[in-house]
Amino acid sequence: MQTILVTGGAGFIGANYIYYLLEHHPDVRVICVDVLTYAGNLSTLAEALKKPTFTFYKDDICDREAIFEIFEKEKPDCVVNFAAESHVDRSIDNPGVFLTTNILGTQVLMDACRKYDVARFHQVSTDEVYGDLPLDRPDLLFTEETPIQTSSPYSASKAAADLLVQAYHRTYGLPVTISRCSNNYGPWQFPEKLIPLMIANALHDKPLPVYGEGLNVRDWLYVDDHCRAIDLIIRNGTPGEVYNVGGHNEMRNIDIVRLICKALDKPEELITYVADRKGHDLRYAIDPTKIHEELGWLPETPFSEGIEKTISWYLENREWWETIISGEYRTYYEKMYGNR
Ligand code: NAD
Ligand code: DAU
Repeated sequence: MQTILVTGGAGFIGANYIYYLLEHHPDVRVICVDVLTYAGNLSTLAEALKKPTFTFYKDDICDREAIFEIFEKEKPDCVVNFAAESHVDRSIDNPGVFLTTNILGTQVLMDACRKYDVARFHQVSTDEVYGDLPLDRPDLLFTEETPIQTSSPYSASKAAADLLVQAYHRTYGLPVTISRCSNNYGPWQFPEKLIPLMIANALHDKPLPVYGEGLNVRDWLYVDDHCRAIDLIIRNGTPGEVYNVGGHNEMRNIDIVRLICKALDKPEELITYVADRKGHDLRYAIDPTKIHEELGWLPETPFSEGIEKTISWYLENREWWETIISGEYRTYYEKMYGNR
């Protein structure tokens, strides 16, 4: 039986990936390591915890002793590293923890992979390592050859981790792969991110805070398509390689927010333009040719279908996000949006 160790599995994409694995590979043992920061939620894994093939450890990826103990006990064949501080606005406010978790945590995991001879270390990276593209050049897309040029402490920490992963491959021959995906959306996304934040605020008839003029463009991918891409990469991808993941679905922020208003039958008057994010990336757009040609990956969920599923999920799972936004999140929200 194969054993896959997933870090950050109590967060948005990691949890979706765990459910993807349990559904599509019931013969695989899944070990989750997550320290449960503000963004991690064990209730998200409630169904997984009922499965005999699933094990959860509440541990920090930076805790070398704890991580080595888990590797010693579980002997994973493959490690997929989702664990990270992931929110750009928080990284602007407090960069330190981003460097610790995203860079040093990755190092600890790779050191454990070396010691225990793990057959594959997969780093879940982001298109943000490429910086941004101009709004008036729709012909330009991020390829795997686009130079790394970061804008925020978050993206700089992810880029540093990517470089370290590539260094471990070259220096120690660690069998690594890296995926760089565009913006994900779907169930269990923490309500600090654009789509769930707008859904939650709209349902509470609260202002919808659009940064700047709302003209920045993101390339949205339904989370299941990202999970399937990672699954293909760890099985068929070439060690040492980077794979961009994205579905040619560029949208302006303002158009997303308007669409959410329409879907929830809320007035656009709720939209409030607020001070822009510092260093705000203008546009992301992925060229997924390599993963398509080498691994046969293509996105399967059109945006119209994915956003409908996502909005329905937030309507049907109010308790999950209402619990979050009524807790510590209120202090964050007040700090981030109070005087904006
Ligand atoms: P998230 O913030 O929802 O979840 C992160 C998870 O990591 C949480 O469960 C948290 O508790 C855990 N974690 C944080 N620090 C930890 C530590 N020191 N030790 C153990 N666990 C820790 O993030 P997400 O949106 O699911 O993103 C997952 C990964 O995918 C990140 O590496 C991110 O950079 C990358 N990514 C995200 C997107 C996106 O659109 N959300 C797109 C591309 C890549
Ligand atoms: O591209 C991949 C990245 O996508 C991931 O690496 C990050 O982990 C993930 O958080 C996401 O980063 P973004 O900064 O693009 O996502 P966010 O949801 O924070 O913002 C999306 C866009 O919406 C961005 O242009 C900022 C804008 N925005 C965001 C919030 C939270 C607003 O206008 N208002 C808001 O309140």
